[in-house]
Amino acid sequence: GAFTEKQEALVSSSFEAFKQNIPHLSILFYTSILEKAPAAKGLFSFLKDSDGVPHDNPKLKAHAEKVFELTRDSAAQLRTKGEVVLPDAISKHLGSVHVQKGVTDPQFAVVKDALLKTIKEAVGDKWSEELSTAWEIAYDELAAVIKKAMS
Ligand code: HEM
Repeated sequence: GAFTEKQEALVSSSFEAFKQNIPHLSILFYTSILEKAPAAKGLFSFLKDSDGVPHDNPKLKAHAEKVFELTRDSAAQLRTKGEVVLPDAISKHLGSVHVQKGVTDPQFAVVKDALLKTIKEAVGDKWSEELSTAWEIAYDELAAVIKKAMS
C-alpha cells in the first residue's frame, strides 16, 4: 500500500520529538532491547563491557540516532517512491556489519518493539495507533533491505 503524506508527517514530527531528548530516549531504547534480548548486550561495543546501559556515551547516542534517522528517511522514500532504496555502498556496509556482529532475525523484531516504545515515550499524548503503525511500516521496509543485504 502507498505511504501517505500524513503518515510521513507523523513519522517526521515524532522523529523531531525524539531528537529533542536523545540522552534519555537512547537509554530507554537500549534498555528495552536488552530486556527482551539480553544476548544482544555482547554485540554492541559500547554495551558489552559496561554494567547496564551507560549514560552519556557518544557512540550509544549516535547509533540510536542513526537507527531512528534511517527509519525516518525510509518513511520519506516510501511516500515519494513507494520503496526503500539505500545507496549500494551503504546497504553493503550495513549488511556486512550486521552479519559480522551475528545479528539474528528475531533481534530485528526486538529492535522494532524498542523503537516503537521509545517513540511512544518521545511523543507523549500525541501518540496514536496511526503514528505507531507508520513507524512500524517504515522500520519493516528498512529492515527488509538490510536483511536482504545480509543474505
Ligand atoms: C551497527 C543501523 C538493526 C546491532 C549499525 C550501524 C548502523 C545500524 C547505521 C553502524 C554501522 C557502522 O559502524 O558504520 C541499523 C538499522 C537497523 C539495525 C537501521 C534496523 C532497521 C540492528 C539489530 C541489531 C543491530 C536488529 C541487533 C540487536 C548492531 C550492532 C552494531 C550495529 C551490534 C555495531 C555497533 C557497535 O558496536 O559499534 N546498525 N541497525 N542492529 N548494529 Fe544495527
